[in-house]
Amino acid sequence: MTQRRRKVRSGIAVTLAAYGLMIAAALGLVTGCIQIVQDYRTQTKRDETFIQSILQISSSGAAEAAFQLDSDLAAEAIKSLMIYDFMFQVRISDERGAVLAEVRRAFEPSLLDRLTPLFSKPFRNYSIDLTNQSTRLNVGTLEVMVNQNTLLSDFYSRSVRSMLSGLLKNLILTLILLNLFYVTLSRPLSWLAEKLNRVDPRQPEPFDLPGSIGKAENEVTMVALSANSILAASRKHLQELEEANSKALKLDEKLRQSERLSVVGQLVGGVAHDYNNILAIILGNLELVRPERLTQAERKALERARSTVIRGADLAAQLLVFSRKQPLAPSIILAGDFLQELHKFSRPVLGEQHEFNFAADPDVWPCLADKRQLEAALLNLTINASHATPKGGKILIECFNARLDAEYCATEDTLEPGDYVCFRVSDTGEGMSETVMSHAFEPYFTTKPEGEGSGLGLSMVYGFAKQSGGHVKIHSQENVGTRVELYLPRSEQEADGQIPGMAHPHIAAGRENLSGKRILVVEDHPDVLEVVKDHLETMQATVITFTSGQDAIAYAQNNTPVDIAILDVILTDSMNGPDVKEVLSQLWPGLKTVFMSGYSEGILGETGRFDQNTILLQKPFSRQRLVEVLTQLNEVCDGP
Ligand SMILES: Nc1ncnc2c1ncn2[C@@H]1O[C@H](COP(=O)(O)OP(=O)(O)OP(=O)(O)O)[C@@H](O)[C@H]1O
Ligand SMILES: [Mg+2]
Repeated sequence: MTQRRRKVRSGIAVTLAAYGLMIAAALGLVTGCIQIVQDYRTQTKRDETFIQSILQISSSGAAEAAFQLDSDLAAEAIKSLMIYDFMFQVRISDERGAVLAEVRRAFEPSLLDRLTPLFSKPFRNYSIDLTNQSTRLNVGTLEVMVNQNTLLSDFYSRSVRSMLSGLLKNLILTLILLNLFYVTLSRPLSWLAEKLNRVDPRQPEPFDLPGSIGKAENEVTMVALSANSILAASRKHLQELEEANSKALKLDEKLRQSERLSVVGQLVGGVAHDYNNILAIILGNLELVRPERLTQAERKALERARSTVIRGADLAAQLLVFSRKQPLAPSIILAGDFLQELHKFSRPVLGEQHEFNFAADPDVWPCLADKRQLEAALLNLTINASHATPKGGKILIECFNARLDAEYCATEDTLEPGDYVCFRVSDTGEGMSETVMSHAFEPYFTTKPEGEGSGLGLSMVYGFAKQSGGHVKIHSQENVGTRVELYLPRSEQEADGQIPGMAHPHIAAGRENLSGKRILVVEDHPDVLEVVKDHLETMQATVITFTSGQDAIAYAQNNTPVDIAILDVILTDSMNGPDVKEVLSQLWPGLKTVFMSGYSEGILGETGRFDQNTILLQKPFSRQRLVEVLTQLNEVCDGP
């Protein structure tokens, strides 16, 4: 946005001074004129009296000359009058009007003489009757013509001087006012206008007031202070807006990221589930082959195929962790002890060049999580930290209590405010760019060269944290380092160790002889069903198979109870494994059940955790694992 700068066209000081000058000049002119008119009247009266008195004084000599009809004497009397420069013409006449003597000056009109006829008569006549002293008779007339301009020349020059000095005074006063207005008004206002003109509306900044304005405490100071407080308020408002905006953007980005991760999780989980079914069929069939009947080379090929299936199963398990569908075995973990144990087996994965430290708050709360998964997660983070510091550096694993409030949790989906235990892995490595950070949790996202990283480490940490009701957060700065924080929910129970009956309990090597046992298997995938049936039959069990829960229930309604039911968790008809188990348990009380699943969703609910008496066969399972589970159930069935 371009800002239009305006220029001051007419300064206040100049305008005010011009008005001052005009008013003062007009007032000066009017009062000056009144004064001059009054002075003029006084002056003309005084001059008239003066001329009358001159004529009176000269009248005795002129009367004598008129009485004697003596022209010389008359000329003498006139001469005494002509010493006054304003006397233009003097004449003495006898009683009959005959001129005895007359003198008239030469007249060269001055500028004044040319101007004055405009408003007054240039000449004025005075006359006096001449009287003989002894006879008291009129003997003639003395007439004078006075040049008014000469008479009033002093007055005129005095008036002009006073007018000019008045004007000069006004001019000086105006200049002083002009300066005062400029200093106290125009200059500060121009400065203020300039400052406001320079304000960037996107980044309003209050400005410092110069001493002259700050100290003045006048109206301009008040306007400047008000402008400053408006600018400060706008700046604060804009900052708040910016913060809110960036918070909203971050929140939006986070939500989109977790939505993306959740979609990818669904996809990956689905693929892993199907993949596990396929692996279950392959593994089951491979294990049905009798190695003793094979040649050495065939046994090798069989073993290669088997170990490849196991590798595939490991990969599917990793994907299940990310998609939050890995069966978890949460136990109460005392973080201090846990970190000590972790130290022992994580040290060897790091190079000598790493400074590796652990720090646990002494009063850290117990937390609830799957211990093996937590170990795997922290190991993953430690390996990432060591990869980020190839030339060596500091790696620190800490553990402390954290209280996450509603404001913090608002930026994360499915995170509840409350008490958490935080495990933090920090390194002084290369750090991550914003782009890497925004993709780091995605499965198969890696910046490592082909073959060096699968890109599953952080996605597993993410899935584990989410599935455990916790949260994971990355703080990273390029060339400074990275902190990954893993928050797990605080446990209210103080006990340690595993919750009984959970997860993969250690099962002693099984017995393969199930003769006399009746086992019911429900599995909608015919190939999986087939392979499980084959294995069980090779163990001499009587196997009753169904591809739907409804058929199994129909069978149960008309038959005596079986010893064990093996149910797939997710079935294609309306009833899933857990629904079938519920009905079968009502029909056959005391029935022992094993679930099999490509993943744990369904029976394990949203969190994917076990309940007390659930045994899960995670597909693909080996014959050995099947035997272990069945042996354990048999022991329970048969009693010790
Ligand atoms: N501590 C760290 N410092 C810098 N970058 C990291 C750090 N941890 C993870 N990253 C970045 O995140 C990416 C993804 O990490 P993730 O652990 O998911 O996969 P990976 O380490 O590449 O492969 P792997 O599956 O072997 O763990 C890494 O490739 C790396 O770019
Ligand atoms: Mg990694």
